[in-house]
This record gives sequence, C-alpha cells and structure tokens, in this order.
Amino acid sequence: MAIYNTQVVSEHEDGAISRAVELLRAGNLVAIPTETVYGLAADATEHCAVQHIYSVKGRPSNNPLICHVSGIEMAKSYVEVPPLAEKLMQRFWPGPLTLVLTRLQTATVSPAVSAGLSTLAIRCPAQHTTRQIIAGLGHPVAAPSANLSGKLSPTCAKDVEITLGGKIPMILDGGTTSEGIESTIIGVRDERLYLLRPGTVTPDEITEAIGLPVYDRDDTEISAPGQMLSHYAPDAHVRMNATEAHEGETLIGFGAIEGSFTLSPDGDLREAARNLFKRLRDADKTDTKTIAVAPIPNHGVGIAINDRLKRAAAPRKNQ
Ligand code: TXA
Ligand code: MG
Repeated sequence: MAIYNTQVVSEHEDGAISRAVELLRAGNLVAIPTETVYGLAADATEHCAVQHIYSVKGRPSNNPLICHVSGIEMAKSYVEVPPLAEKLMQRFWPGPLTLVLTRLQTATVSPAVSAGLSTLAIRCPAQHTTRQIIAGLGHPVAAPSANLSGKLSPTCAKDVEITLGGKIPMILDGGTTSEGIESTIIGVRDERLYLLRPGTVTPDEITEAIGLPVYDRDDTEISAPGQMLSHYAPDAHVRMNATEAHEGETLIGFGAIEGSFTLSPDGDLREAARNLFKRLRDADKTDTKTIAVAPIPNHGVGIAINDRLKRAAAPRKNQ
C-alpha cells in the first residue's frame, strides 16, 4: 500500500474544498467530516477507489458502504425514491438519516459500494463543507466511518490522523462532530419503514413526522450486513450497566453516577451520544483492562447509545 504524507487541512483554509475534490476525482481517498462521525470517502463511481476503502479499513467485502449525496436530486439519479422516502428526505435531510432504497439499474456507482446488493444506502450529510465537496465532484461519495474495521469511530480529525495517518493523502478538519454516533439507518420497503441501525434520529421522531410506525430490523427481509455484533470496540473490555467501578476498572459515568469520566453529568442523552466515542477513547488511554459504563436509559437516543455499547462489550474474534 502507498505511503502518504497525510495533510490535515482545515475546512476554512482557502482552496480546501477544491483540493479535496481534485484528490477524489483522481481516485484518491479523503477523510471528511460529517455531523455524525468522520468518513473515509471515495468517488462512489470509481471502482478502484471504492475497493481501496475496503483495504485501508480492513473491512470485510460483504459489508456495504453508505453513498453520500449533496441533495434529493442527486439521490434520484441512483436510487428509486418512492413518495414515503421522499417525505423522509424532505423532513430529515440534510441530516443524520440514511435510507436503504432500491438501486436504479442505471446507477453508475461501483457495485462494491453496496457489496453486490440490489439496494443502496444513501444519505445527505448536514456538514456544509462536505456537501460542497460532493456537489463539486458531481458524484456521490462512498464513505464508511474513517476508523479501522471493528474499532471506535472518529469524531475529530485527530482521531482519524492517529489511525489513518500515512495511509491517505488528506484529512479535512471540520472540528468535532455534533452528533457523535453514526446515522440512523432506515430500510424502506412496500410502504413500510424498518430500523436497521439506531442513531440520533429516533423512530419516535420519524413516526411523529410522517405518522407511520417504524418496524424492527428482525421483521424484515432487508439484508443488513455489517451489523455484526462486535464493533465500535476500544482496546479494553467493556462492562455495561455498572453502578460502580470494580477493582482495576475505569468507570464512565452518566447522570448521578460519576466515574473518572462522564458521558453527561446532567443525564442528557444527546450530550451522551456526542461524547460516547471520545470518552471510550479517553478511558482506553488509562490502560485499564475493563471500561465500566453506567446504565443508559433505553429510550430515545439512549437506544442508539446502548446499541453501540452492546457491540463494544460483545465477545471479539481472536480474544
Ligand atoms: O453516520 C454515518 O452513517 C457514517 C458517516 C461517515 O456518514 N457512516 C457510517 O458508515 O456509519 P459505516 O460503513 O460505518 O456503516 C454503514 C452501514 C453498514 O455497516 C451496513 O450495515 C449499512 O450501513 N448498509 C450500507 N449499505 C446497505 C445496504 N445496501 N443495505 C443494508 N444496509 C446497508
Ligand atoms: Mg463504521
């Protein structure tokens, strides 16, 4: 694999957007900020560049990527957009909601983006600079989270530099992400909605906005590969629902449970989501064997936080 002198470029620097566009156009990978986590982007229509994402991340080839578009019009060139999906786009885009829709026969994105599936996961990020890059490129960018497969997702440019420095030519620094965890993924099929991955756009908000229930992932045939159990893992083991630290553990608190670090002293679930990966990284740096995490209420955004924690706590391969 090529070795790069990775440039970390502020989104405010003159020419930053055009540099990112030029690199993508030439088939390179660029790490980009989004409001959820940083993504490792390639021009989705460049097959070799998309395959390169899998090799840089060490990602299994059956785990499909999300296609990021600059708006609804661009989405319509790549996927079928039934009225229900269009309503969701109008209400929640740009923002942290990904829709899994039927890929158009004419879609020019590499088949590697969707790992050979007939569907495509598509989202329009709220991060303004990233939308400008996509619009400048004129193609969607395929972008998984910019971490090594199975590890914690990056919420600032520094996190990306630590793991992908030397492996890609450019990291665009857009500051710390506002949501902190990956987008909600909704599958749309036969006028029904299915929650494939929880995020900060909650099923309750979706139901409130469009008056339809959101069904569980287990109730659909929609294939959701990549939702493997062990994921988002720090080096240390993770113990959930901890009310205190056992001998040798580092405790991450929430609300009244204090700990060495806290996700949110006030028990605010959105703040906790924003801090989740950062605090897991901080706790990992203490070289503890086990990170204990206080109970997180399992409602609203808490469902997404518990989903990530369950995967961080799951048994891992080779361990
Ligand atoms: O917030 C996010 O979604 C971030 C930022 C960078 O946009 N991206 C992200 O990508 O979380 P990644 O690769 O870490 O997760 C993508 C997940 C896959 O693991 C898979 O579960 C789902 O999206 N996915 C992608 N394409 C799919 C498809 N065609 N059908 C079902 N699930 C799909
Ligand atoms: Mg990921």
